[in-house]
Amino acid sequence: MTADEIRLLAVRADLSPATRLLDLCCGTAGPGSLIAREFGCDYLGVDRNAASLAVARRRTAGLPCRFARRTVPPLPSGQLDVVMLLETLLAFRDKVALVGEIADRLVPGGRFACTVEDGDALTLDERAAMPDPDTVWPVPLGEMSDLLLRTGFRVMWTSDVTAQHFAVADALARQFAESREDIAAEIGVRRIDALIAGHRLWAEWMRAGRIRKHLLIAEKRRGRQAAGRASRHGRRSPSERRCGRDRADG
Ligand SMILES: C[S@@+](CC[C@H](N)C(=O)[O-])C[C@H]1O[C@@H](n2cnc3c(N)ncnc32)[C@H](O)[C@@H]1O
Repeated sequence: MTADEIRLLAVRADLSPATRLLDLCCGTAGPGSLIAREFGCDYLGVDRNAASLAVARRRTAGLPCRFARRTVPPLPSGQLDVVMLLETLLAFRDKVALVGEIADRLVPGGRFACTVEDGDALTLDERAAMPDPDTVWPVPLGEMSDLLLRTGFRVMWTSDVTAQHFAVADALARQFAESREDIAAEIGVRRIDALIAGHRLWAEWMRAGRIRKHLLIAEKRRGRQAAGRASRHGRRSPSERRCGRDRADG
């Protein structure tokens, strides 16, 4: 994500120094450190990768940030004003369970701010071409909006940023390819080749409209409006079932 996209999402999510913010799957806290510096929230970053968290802690030294190592769901306990999930919704095959947990932690009127990789599930051929396909579960934006609605959210705002993300993926694929040997010396041939292949595929899919990328803010509905939300333990609608299942049917 660009710094401008992160700021836009933060403004739309109404972040302030009083905001209790959970940055789910924060990684090295690239976006998180910008937000903590510029918006001054009560920031908790969670990720399962210890090495990423070590970088995140160094990067945010002196800022009021806390980090925890864990695999989500479940989310850490406690009430929240905003949950942020950037560039990682894709990694969750079962989006129903994840969104249900987020709804449970947010106060009424709380916001879920995320990026959405909008598109049908990968076909078998696409899975074969994509490195690490078990972390790649796109969802049509309409199905994601439907899931949010059924889970007690109201989608407040979306913004299509496909063109910008295509440009970045395309530039990265080219630069990785140009510096392949130098990077391979640092991280190994397999990893740099997977990075090149993955970025080329994303660039191609976004260029062709196979995948679109959106910023999204959803608000947890207040009071009686939220009372009818579907229980995450209850019956799932067809679209909810699709959000949580493999549609790699070729
Ligand atoms: C693509 S990075 C995004 C990092 C950050 N949100 C950003 O935008 O820069 C994805 C991160 O999600 C973490 N992750 C993926 N699945 C996870 C899970 N189930 N629980 C915790 N962390 C997870 C990975 O360790 C990785 O750091």
